Parts: sequence; structure tokens; C-alpha cells
Amino acid sequence: MKDFFKMKRIAMQMMTHTDWEIYFSPGRVNLIGEHIDYNGGLVMPCSLDLGIMGAFHLRSDRIIRCYSHEYSTVDLYEFSLDDLHPKNHWTDYVKGIVKAFSSTIVYGFDLAIMSHLPSGAGLSSSASLELLVATYINDQYACGMSPLNLALISQQVENEFIGVQCGIMDQFAVAMGQKDKAILLNTHTLSYEMVSADFKEYQILIANTSKSRTLAGSIYNERRQECDTILHRLQETMSIQSLCELSLSQLDDCHRLISEEMLFRRLRHVVSEHHRTIESSLALNKQDMKTFGQLLSLSHESLTKDYEVSCIELDTMVNALLKAGAIGARMTGAGFGGCAIALVLSSQISTIVQEVKAAYIQATHLQPEFYVATIGDGTRKIHFSIQDALSSLLDYGIKALLFDACELVYRRNSLLHYFHLTNYEKKPVIPMELDDILDNLVEYARMNHLLLDDSFIGEENFKADVMNLLCETPKDIIQRFNKAYQQSPIHATNFLYTYSKNAHYIQTKNIAKNISWSYPHDYGDFQITINMSKPEKDPMMIKMLREVEESTYPQCQLCVENEGFGGTTTRESRRNMRIVPLMLQNEQWFFQYSPYSYFEEHAIVLRNEHTPMIIQGQTFLKLIDFVRLFPHYFVGSNADFPIVGGSILTHEHFQCGRAKMPIEDASKQFVFQIHNVDVYRLKWPLSTIRLVSKDEKAIAAMACIFLQKWQKYENLGLNIINYPVLHNTITPICRFKEDEWIIDLILRNNVTTKAFPMGVFHPHPQLHHIKKENIGLIEAMGIAILPPRLKRELDLIQTVIFNQTTVVDHPELEKHASWIRELQKQSDVNLKVEVGKKFVEVLEDAGVFKQDFVGQQAFIEFIRTCQ
Ligand code: GLA
Repeated sequence: MKDFFKMKRIAMQMMTHTDWEIYFSPGRVNLIGEHIDYNGGLVMPCSLDLGIMGAFHLRSDRIIRCYSHEYSTVDLYEFSLDDLHPKNHWTDYVKGIVKAFSSTIVYGFDLAIMSHLPSGAGLSSSASLELLVATYINDQYACGMSPLNLALISQQVENEFIGVQCGIMDQFAVAMGQKDKAILLNTHTLSYEMVSADFKEYQILIANTSKSRTLAGSIYNERRQECDTILHRLQETMSIQSLCELSLSQLDDCHRLISEEMLFRRLRHVVSEHHRTIESSLALNKQDMKTFGQLLSLSHESLTKDYEVSCIELDTMVNALLKAGAIGARMTGAGFGGCAIALVLSSQISTIVQEVKAAYIQATHLQPEFYVATIGDGTRKIHFSIQDALSSLLDYGIKALLFDACELVYRRNSLLHYFHLTNYEKKPVIPMELDDILDNLVEYARMNHLLLDDSFIGEENFKADVMNLLCETPKDIIQRFNKAYQQSPIHATNFLYTYSKNAHYIQTKNIAKNISWSYPHDYGDFQITINMSKPEKDPMMIKMLREVEESTYPQCQLCVENEGFGGTTTRESRRNMRIVPLMLQNEQWFFQYSPYSYFEEHAIVLRNEHTPMIIQGQTFLKLIDFVRLFPHYFVGSNADFPIVGGSILTHEHFQCGRAKMPIEDASKQFVFQIHNVDVYRLKWPLSTIRLVSKDEKAIAAMACIFLQKWQKYENLGLNIINYPVLHNTITPICRFKEDEWIIDLILRNNVTTKAFPMGVFHPHPQLHHIKKENIGLIEAMGIAILPPRLKRELDLIQTVIFNQTTVVDHPELEKHASWIRELQKQSDVNLKVEVGKKFVEVLEDAGVFKQDFVGQQAFIEFIRTCQ
């Protein structure tokens, strides 16, 4: 159960008792049947696995104290059972329910809540909170009420205490929801049927417009009144109790009785929506997703045009979803803001989200949020213990093939021992995501003083420790890797890559937080990534790190000594990292995956010896050796000098992976052929020579000649200064494709001058607001890795440009000031494209031969000197 122990810990921190009962109450989403529940028709909501968690502690007096992890501006909000008046505060929902039970309740309670529901998004956080409290009281005083009774009481509280004239749908869905089911509810009779919510290869995507539903209350009540007026009018000549009793064919007759255009449109929505709900349930039964999708879109049209409860933001979102490939989309809930839902192919979710997000921000300047709807059970008490968490973890370990099932007892005992438990309770497995299990274990450890270091890095190191208890030993991993290699190199890398992910060494979920887009250009399709997966260090943290004495073991982050290292307050644990040995040019090297995965199957090859980076003739032979072993991977080396090298210069290593890097598709101009090696000049912002040959010896020899020539090259006219100190070096990349060896040689120079103290061939100061770090191998190949601060800054810049304001109110935008002024002159700004342009400039700054005629002529001349 997600965040169970966190909830307990927060409650304990705020209100000191140790005994808490935890309840969970879901949010809801309505699939179809909107504004129908007060017209006696059919609706089809379902409860979500997102919701509100509450920790309750019974008191011995008549006081109620409430704390909300998300909303509390004051720490605790207190009231007495004897003074239950609404105060226009979130605790009114608690008060209202308490009041409804006032004849039963004797004692007050302490309540801490934590919500995973976005506030004001129309996912029914109010009904969720009402049922949370109602269910607790019902249990506590053994009132014996059914969930349906509790839903009815909650609706009454909402109507009478809170003052919103809502129907029964929300409270019903929250109380009665069932995992993987939608509820087809007749709101007139309250009879219902559980419908399978299996959308085949599709899923329901929830898109929060982030438009707050300010008008919701007043217009909602207005619509209810309009419907009442229509009903009364019709009842003069028709014997109906609710509008939804009308058939579609009766609608025309009604036109005569309801002559006002607006009122007739309201009626048309109600009747047609009720029928769309019937048709939707039939379509879902037949698993006819296309029809269901069309009905969703028709519902939206009707809500927009006839019922007039949509808004620009919801319409923009729905249109963007449909344009991006959803087969149906509509607003959900009361409207006027909040969320839309869409039926989308599971395989397309991430591309659709990316596209819709960009289009929506562009049009509205609001930041939308997206969730894939997982349908969970209704409000319930949560029984969860450390034993449950460990059972789920062990089950995960077996299913993810981290260890063999015959080792279950051994693994279990290792975990029990680690958590200082001497007892084992057999528990049915609660299916949970690994990240949720680990978060729970961290919180449990924190509460029980087993977490030695409370910081983020301390938590991560703790998780690595726990996962290591499930992982096989390095020797076993090497054996499994070698066995897979006998099948093929791809089998071997697949094995280690999957194992590294399953062992939580590569944290897929965290990496998915990165924001990436591609920027197409004449040079190629650049890839821009804002790295959100590493937390930004705050200034205090940086200060602390500086003060901590640098340890000498392991000597550096890339040393082989890291395998199984437990981490420190400043160093990440490598307990769950596994590495495999390999030989390159008769030297001992090792292969491991990068925990950051900047591209597909991003891995690192490191030398056994802790010797500095060096680019020399042998480097090409080592790269070739590696690709011979793993022909499906490219491999490259950072340059060996500061400024143009990577962040670690002290340990010889390469980076490799299965990804197709942008540089691969750069267009190439043939220059000459020699000894069966074709030599090309790449059209690329950094000066790059491409060698292509079927002969590995010839290509290595040729790369060597280019390196030697470059090491001796100087051109003062072009600022390529190389004497008296050597400044020229190379960033080399090697791969094997369609029976040919390909080596890219990116020419680098790290000279600094008075005018460019950070480097002549380094991003110039006017670009530092986007990127001022070294242009290493990954960037040089066309992938920009940008710091997380940029996400925040770009969002702010977007608002500043849109509102035509200045940057003075935002000190963090100071560094972008002149860029913003330029952008404000443009009529239509797409910030992703603008960042892309900057990245190209960054790379062009790092290019030694510039892109003008003189630069490229000199480049060609240099290449020819190697002929
Ligand atoms: C709100 C109300 C519900 C229902 C929907 C519209 O969520 O609380 O009762 O009327 O709007 O379908």
C-alpha cells in the first residue's frame, strides 16, 4: 500500500501517539453520464487507486484535531464535538460527517491526512474525504452501516452542511468502487451493475487542465434549477418522475413544451447523455472500444454546446488529445475546469502525453498533469505491516528473477535480520510496485531508527542495501552473463540490463521523470533532455559536501572498488550494482550499466587500473576490441583534457550503449579513400571526421594517423592554438554496422585565452544561461543533458513571455533576461525549439573549424594532410 508508513510517520510526528488506524478513500472519475445523477439517469463512474489516506487515533476527550500534509497552513486545526459549525475550511467535510453521527459519537479523534489527488481537479476529493471519515466512525462505533448508507449520509452532508447540491454519483463511486470495474448506476433507483473496465489495448488517460473550477459551485446549482424547471413544465402534461425517463424519440415532442432554445438544449443533453451511457455499457460489454471512444467525444460535444459546462481549457485539452491520437475524449465531472479523460492506445501513452502537453501549454500557458487511470477499490481500512511489505518484496524478487525460488527462506531471513525482526508471519502477497514497497521500507526504517542517514542519499543507499539482499553474488551474475553470451552478445547485455533495472540499480521510474524532446535540424535530430532524475543539491548541501573530507576509498566514482560499496553521506551506494569483466588489448577492463541511462542501454566500460584518461593509438584498438565483443553497441571515449573532456578525467573509461545517437545520421561529404578506408567530413557542429572501412586494422591505423596529425596541428588565424602546451585532442566513437567499421573522430582543443577564460572552444558566456558545463562525449554526439533548474525556469519564462511582463519579479530569470527580451519580440514562441537552437549554438562554439567558408576550407585542408 503506497505510503502507508509515511502516513503513520507523519501522524506520529504531528500528534505524538504511536497507535494509528489507517484508512484509504479513493478519488473517482466518471467515464460517461455527466450531469445525469440529479436527473434520475444512468452514470458510469469508477473509483481510482489515487485517493486520500487518513491516520486516525481515538481520543479520550471531545476534541477533534486535524492535520493535512498538503493543505495545512497552520499545523493542526482543532474543534470540539460540541461546536460543529462550518468555517469554510477543508475540515468542514470532517465536521459535517461528525455532525451526521453526533448521536453516536462519544469521543473525539486525531486525524492526519495525505492526499494523492490533485486538488480542485474534479476527481472528487470532497466525497473521498467524507467517506474516509464516515467509514472510520462506522467502524469505530460498530454502527453496522453499509457502504451505500455511508454514501447517502455523505451526500446529505455535502448538500446540507457544505451547501453543494450534488447528486449521488461521487459518494456512491467512492464508497462502492471495485478494482478494475466501472459502476453502471441507476441514480433513480440506486440499483447498479459492475461493468468490466477492461479497455483491451487501450487505457483511460486522465488529463488535468490545471484550470481551477471557480464557477463550478454556482453554475452547477443553476443547471440543477434549470433541470427542475424543465421537469415541472413537462410534468404538467407527461407523467414522468425524472428527465431521464424520456426516450430519444420523445425529445421532439418536448420541443413544443419547452420552447426556450436554451432550456431545450439542456434537456437534449440530459436525454441523449443518458442514452449514450446505455450505449457505452453495451459497447464495453462487446469490447467495442471504437464505439465507446466515439460516445465519449459525443458526450463532450453535448456538454459543451447543449449543457454549456465546458470551458476553453477543457475544449483545448480534448481537441489536443483527439489530435494526438486518442479515439475518444471528454471533460469529466462537473466541468468548468478540472480534468478531461481520453481513451488512448497503451503503447502510445507517452508520445500522446508529450504532444498534448506541448500543444496545451502553447495554447493556454497552464501546466497540465497526466495520470493513467488505475481503477481500485472503494473506501477501506488498510491493514499493512512490515511483514506485508517484506512478503511483497520477496514475491517481486522471485518474479523479477533476482534470485531463484529455492533460496526464498534464505532471502527472507536476510531481510528479517536486516529489519531487526525475529519473527516471520506468513502473509498473502499484496501486489505493489517496487518503488512503493521500497518507499514503505524506508519510512518503516526511519520510524524504527534503522535509517542511519536521513538525507535523500541516505534513503537511496538504504534501498540499495535492501535490494542487494535479494541480488545474486557477483560471481553468479558473471556466470549468468557468460552463459547468455554463449547464446549471443545481445542475450548477454539483455540479461545484465534487465537485471540492473530489476535490482533497482537503474531506477526506471525515476528516469522516466526526465523531460525529453527532439529538435530537428539540418545537422540531424538533436535530443534535448532535462535531467529530473537526480535531485538538485541545495546550497546548504553543496556547502556540507565541500566541508566533508574527500575519502580515498573507492579512489573515484568509476573505480572497480565501487562494486558492492555501501555509500557514504556524499557517495551513492553501489550495493546492488553488478559488473562483468572483459579484456581489451590484453588489459583487464569491466563493463557496467550507468544508473542514469542518458540513452538506451547506457553503459560504462572501465579499466581495472585507476589510471588517467588518455587518447592514444591504443585507444582505437580498445574501442574496436569492445565493439568486436558487443557489435550491437557503439562505444566512445571522452577526450582526455579538461574543458573538452567529461567530468571524470582520473580514470580511463568509455561510454557505450545500444542507442542510435543523433551524430550517426549526420550527412557526410567524401574527402578521399586510402588503404581501403573512406574518409568523410561530417556536416556536424563539432568538426568531425568519419572513417569507414571493412578492415579493422586499416581503420585503426588511419585513426592513429589523424590523431598524430591533429596533435601537431595549429592555426593561429582560427584560434586553434596548440603550442607550447598541447591543446589538441580527440573525442573518438566506434561502431560496426552492416559489415563496416565506423570511427568518428571529433577534433577538440581546450585552449583558454583572456577573452575566453573558460575555453575558446567551449560554450561562450552568452550561452551559459542554458549550458556552461563541459561538452563531453554525449553532448558531442548530439544529446543535451540539461540541469533540472531549467524546467522551473522555462515554465516561468513561458509565463513572463505570455503576460508580456519583465523578469524583475523573478531573480532566477536574471541570467535569461536578454534571451527573454529577444523572445518577446517574436509572435509565436515555442520554447523547446528555442532551447534546441541554443544547444546547436553551444555545439558550434565547441567546434574547432567553424561552419563558415574559411573554417570548412581549413578543415578540408587538414583532412587532406593525412592523405
Ligand atoms: C459533480 C457532482 C456529481 C455530478 C457531477 C456531474 O461531480 O458532485 O454529483 O453531478 O458533478 O456529472
